[in-house]
Amino acid sequence: MNSHKKSAAGIAAKYVKDGMTIGLGTGSTVQFFLEELAELIDREKFSITGVCTSSATEREAQKLKIPIVSLQKETSLDLTVDGADEIDIHLNLIKGGGGALYREKLIAKNSQTVVIIADESKKVDVLGAFPLPIEITKFGNELIQRKIEDLLPLTSLRKNADGSIFESDNNNYILDCKLEHANSLLHLEQELKLITGVVETGLFINVADVAIVNNYKIEKDDQYA
Ligand code: 5RP
Repeated sequence: MNSHKKSAAGIAAKYVKDGMTIGLGTGSTVQFFLEELAELIDREKFSITGVCTSSATEREAQKLKIPIVSLQKETSLDLTVDGADEIDIHLNLIKGGGGALYREKLIAKNSQTVVIIADESKKVDVLGAFPLPIEITKFGNELIQRKIEDLLPLTSLRKNADGSIFESDNNNYILDCKLEHANSLLHLEQELKLITGVVETGLFINVADVAIVNNYKIEKDDQYA
């Protein structure tokens, strides 16, 4: 719900300090955070630099006059604020509903603090109702899909509304997979990453530090009420 997304974004804005370099996630919840950030820059004269996780976020940041830079060797990210498709009780996530999983993971894993914002619909006991996105190269995509199906049998190539194949900002394809009850998400993630042609998976294990759901905060290993 939009009011819940907005309040989560408002709480995330409290993590922002003057002078920070901030990873800017992707999606409708992050949109509210971008608006908060633009206000901090305008009202408080904060000097902030954003690093965008998608071309969609880049367009929004430019519209809102948030200064952005590309990811460089020397980029040091203080904070990343991003959304999620699912959040489990250990703050493990499924991400990539918007197709930005690779850049989102690269930026989050290189940030000092990762804050996830969401409404309550994203909170689950166990990950897997939402399909797990896996970004793969175009070249050999059918073979790569077959290899992935040895681990996760139900996969489908992501399509756009007009039936054309969806392409990520990195010009790759995305498979949406059914996450069967995995004994170890970390093990599954490692096995998937061993398949040549898998660029990245939407499993974010031990990446988030804090999740803000509606208007309350969940720290790592808090149990859901
Ligand atoms: C994009 C993502 C988004 O963070 C995720 O899909 C949540 O989006 P929204 O805030 O619109 O529900 O992972 O790749």
